[in-house]
Amino acid sequence: MNGAVPPTRVAVIGANGHGRWHRRVIAPLHADGRLRLVALVDVEPVQDDPVAPLPPGVQVFTDHRAMLAATRPQVVVVCTPPHTHLPIARDALTAGADLLLEKPPVLSLAEHEELTWALSTAGRVAQVGFQALGSAALTALTDALAAGRLGTVTGIATVAAWQRPDAYYARSAWAGQRTLNGRPVLDGALANPLAHAVMQCLAVAGSLGGAPPWPVAIEVERYRVRPIEVEDTAVLRIRFRAGPPVLAAVTLAAEEFVAGEVIVTGSAGRAVLEYPTDRLRLPGDVVTRRVPGRQGLLENLLAHRADPLGVPLIAPLARTAPFTALLDALRAAPEPRLLDGDLVVGVGDGEERVRHLRGVVDVLRRSAERAALPSELAVPWAVPAYRAELTG
Ligand SMILES: NC(=O)c1ccc[n+]([C@@H]2O[C@H](COP(=O)([O-])OP(=O)(O)OC[C@H]3O[C@@H](n4cnc5c(N)ncnc54)[C@H](O)[C@@H]3O)[C@@H](O)[C@H]2O)c1
Repeated sequence: MNGAVPPTRVAVIGANGHGRWHRRVIAPLHADGRLRLVALVDVEPVQDDPVAPLPPGVQVFTDHRAMLAATRPQVVVVCTPPHTHLPIARDALTAGADLLLEKPPVLSLAEHEELTWALSTAGRVAQVGFQALGSAALTALTDALAAGRLGTVTGIATVAAWQRPDAYYARSAWAGQRTLNGRPVLDGALANPLAHAVMQCLAVAGSLGGAPPWPVAIEVERYRVRPIEVEDTAVLRIRFRAGPPVLAAVTLAAEEFVAGEVIVTGSAGRAVLEYPTDRLRLPGDVVTRRVPGRQGLLENLLAHRADPLGVPLIAPLARTAPFTALLDALRAAPEPRLLDGDLVVGVGDGEERVRHLRGVVDVLRRSAERAALPSELAVPWAVPAYRAELTG
C-alpha cells in the first residue's frame, strides 16, 4: 500500500447514442488513471466505438440495477432518454453514486424537487450535461458584461438553425414525441437538441442579477415540418422577475446552418457568443475570436468530489431549475402548427433526407434582432402566440 487514492470508479448508463460521446471523454481519463471505467449499461447491444475501445475489465450490463450492485460505481453518467432519468438517477443515488446527468435533467419542476430531495437524502451531487456552461468564452462574455462594456443590457437572444434528417427521428421511440406510453417526453427543439441555446441565455441573464433568473412568463410559437408531436422550429420569449427578456429562435429545419449564437444587446454595443464553438465578439472587437479553455463536466465533477468546498460544480441541478420551469410551461402549449406545401422542401434521399423550411433563418434572425415573435413580424405561416404565466 502506498496510500495513493484509487481512481474514481465510473459507469455509463445509456452507452450508445450520445453515450458514445461520453465514452470518448472517458477514454483518455481512464488511460491516464484519472478515473476507472468499470461498466457500461445499455438495453441494446453496446456498439463498438473505434475512438474509445472498451478497456480490459470493463463489464457490460443490460440492467442498471444489476450493474450498480455488481460494480458499485462512485460516479454514474446517465445518458438515457429524458423520461428515464429520474428513476435511474434515484437508483444510482441509493447505490451511493454521484451523477453526471444528461440534459434535460428532468421534465418538470415536480421531478426537479423529487431529485433535489433524493440528492440531499443521499448526500450526493448531480452535474447536469449542459457542457457549454463550462466555456471560457461564456465567462469572458459575462466578465465583459460585469465590466460594463455593453452598458445596460436591454436584451438577450439566441439563434440556432440546424438540420435533422429523417434518421434522427427514426432512431428511437421517444424521438420527436410529446409523450411515450403515457409519460411526458417533450422531445422538442427547445427542450432537447437546442436546450443549450436556451440554457446559455439563462446563464447570461443570471450573470446580470447575480442569481439564477426566475422566468415569470413565456410567449411561444411552435412549428413542425414533419409529422412529429413536438416543435422542430420555435420562437420563445421569456420574461423574468427582473432584468432583460430572453428570446430563443431555433429550428431543426434550416436551409443554412447557424451553429448557435447568443446575442447580447446593451446601451453601449452588442456581443455575440457562438456557444458550440466558443467564439466571441465583444463591442470594439475587429474580429470574432475563439476563447479556448472549456472545462469538462466530468473532470469538474471529479475535482468537486475531491475538494467540494474549493471546486464548485459548473452545472449543479439547482442551476437548471429555471430551465425546467420553462419545460413545465411549454408542456401546456398547444400542438405545434404543421407547415407543409410550398413552404417545405425535401432535400436528399433515404434516411438522410432533411426538410428545409423556406426562409426560416431570415425569420429567426429578424425575431432575434427585434425580440419579436413570427406573428409579430407578419410572417404568413405564423400562429397566434401561446402565453403562460409561471409560478414559483
Ligand atoms: N449534452 C448534449 O449535447 C447531448 C447531446 C445529445 C443527447 N443528449 C442527451 O443524452 C440523452 C440520451 O440521448 P440520445 O440522443 O443518446 O438518445 P438515444 O435514444 O439515441 O440513445 C439512448 C440510449 O440509451 C439506451 N437506453 C434506453 N433506456 C435505457 C435504460 N433504461 N437503461 C440503459 N440504457 C437505456 C438506448 O438503448 C440507447 O442506446 C438525452 O437526455 C439527450 O437529451 C445530450
